[in-house]
Amino acid sequence: MAKKLFIKTYGCQMNAYDSARMADVLAPLGFAAAASAEEADLVILNTCHIRERAAEKVYSELGRLKALKAARRAEGGDLLLAVAGCVAQAEGAEIMRRQPAVDIIVGPQSYHRLPELVARAAAARGVLATAFEVERKFDALPQAERAQGPARFLTIQEGCDRFCSFCVVPYTRGAEYSRPAAAIEAEARRLVAGGAVEITLLGQNVNGYHGAAPAGAGSWGLARLLVQLAEIEGLARLRYTTSHPREMDAALIAAHGENAKLMPFLHLPVQSGSDRVLAAMNRRHGVDDYRRIVAQLRKVRPDIALSSDFIVGFPGEREADFAATLALVREIGFAQAYSFKYSPRPGTPAAERADQLPEETKVERLARLQALIARQQRAFNEQSVGRRVQVLLERPGGRPGQLAGRSPHMQVVNLEAEDHLLGTIVEVEITHAHAVSLRGRRVGASPSLHQPQPLIEEARISA
Ligand code: SAH
Ligand code: SF4
Ligand code: F3S
Repeated sequence: MAKKLFIKTYGCQMNAYDSARMADVLAPLGFAAAASAEEADLVILNTCHIRERAAEKVYSELGRLKALKAARRAEGGDLLLAVAGCVAQAEGAEIMRRQPAVDIIVGPQSYHRLPELVARAAAARGVLATAFEVERKFDALPQAERAQGPARFLTIQEGCDRFCSFCVVPYTRGAEYSRPAAAIEAEARRLVAGGAVEITLLGQNVNGYHGAAPAGAGSWGLARLLVQLAEIEGLARLRYTTSHPREMDAALIAAHGENAKLMPFLHLPVQSGSDRVLAAMNRRHGVDDYRRIVAQLRKVRPDIALSSDFIVGFPGEREADFAATLALVREIGFAQAYSFKYSPRPGTPAAERADQLPEETKVERLARLQALIARQQRAFNEQSVGRRVQVLLERPGGRPGQLAGRSPHMQVVNLEAEDHLLGTIVEVEITHAHAVSLRGRRVGASPSLHQPQPLIEEARISA
């Protein structure tokens, strides 16, 4: 009888990529996708440890699953529970202690061992695998042949050596590892053969990529890799995330002007607009470095849209530091951005500091920053009204008869379109702007998979 697998994914896009790989590696064991935990024989929680809230969600979800498992056993059946991802890596033993119903703990570098772990767990109880084996992981994980959608993720780099003082990633994902360029190209070609039109290259520090060049000819940086991938016919769009300002080298900045498939959008986290706070965060760049990078990017690609991450309420952050963050946001103008209250993470240097800020201060600063970012995002979206943009149709839209996709600038666009257009790039005239999405109508000729380059648009904004 076919078994069913349900994976619940938290956290970043690297986790989304890993969840797809876990489904691939378990498919040969007969595991098909279940629509919910209630229908599954094996549930995997692919977890995130980045902030306290993210980690705590796992324990509440496990409480619910424990009850489901008990009910299943009362009927003579069973339910295997696995915890994967960064919480598994950071506090595997703690999970086993707090929730004995868990059968398998598996860290991000050990997913190729899942078949063995599932077999052992089905026989005995309680398996923990959190060794760092990242090179083996990529070699040993199979690639799905099944079609999944036109916008796909491809992990090219994993781990982080930067040790920002607030961040758990260097501890949960381990040291930086870049996959060889040839393996990445082969995977990209498979994705395109399976219907991918857009590929987002992923890494915790993706622009620090330095993988082995094909045929043992030294190593390649991200810009060179992007040139190689842009040659793949049928692939229309390339993106990459997440980047560190320190790794935005001249070649990569130039690529934004030269590589026609590289989309005019960059997520480049700055975290704070205060040099004092950036130093305390161990970011090893200043506000002026960020300004200079943005100016250079806008010189080579005037319509580039920017996104960022911000942390408010870092230990010792003064009102003047926070005001500098607001000023930087106004000065740069972001198309979108993520912002978070600082969350002390066990084992990180910033969590040890005595000058932690009160919760009220964090809440209040976050609200001010988010209001500013929301105004900028709306302003950016409103500029699109009346323009024609190329939209890659990715999924059903907000209403019946609609499809949704993304503009080159990452905006979500809803429009009336027939289902057979899914997976194609269509030209759309934007008719309405909302807070976080656009609406439009199709214009122009029928699409083909091999698209002309996206329109260049002027996109400078202010709030
Ligand atoms: N590698 C990426 C970030 C990955 S984590 C980079 O360097 O930009 C995603 C975002 O979560 C970070 O950019 C940061 O803004 C936020 N974050 C990380 N640790 C945090 C913490 N302890 N508290 C609050 N936000 C945090
Ligand atoms: Fe974390 Fe900093 Fe590495 Fe990003 S660069 S993953 S914030 S340590
Ligand atoms: Fe979270 Fe791990 Fe990604 S901590 S953000 S899932 S790298």
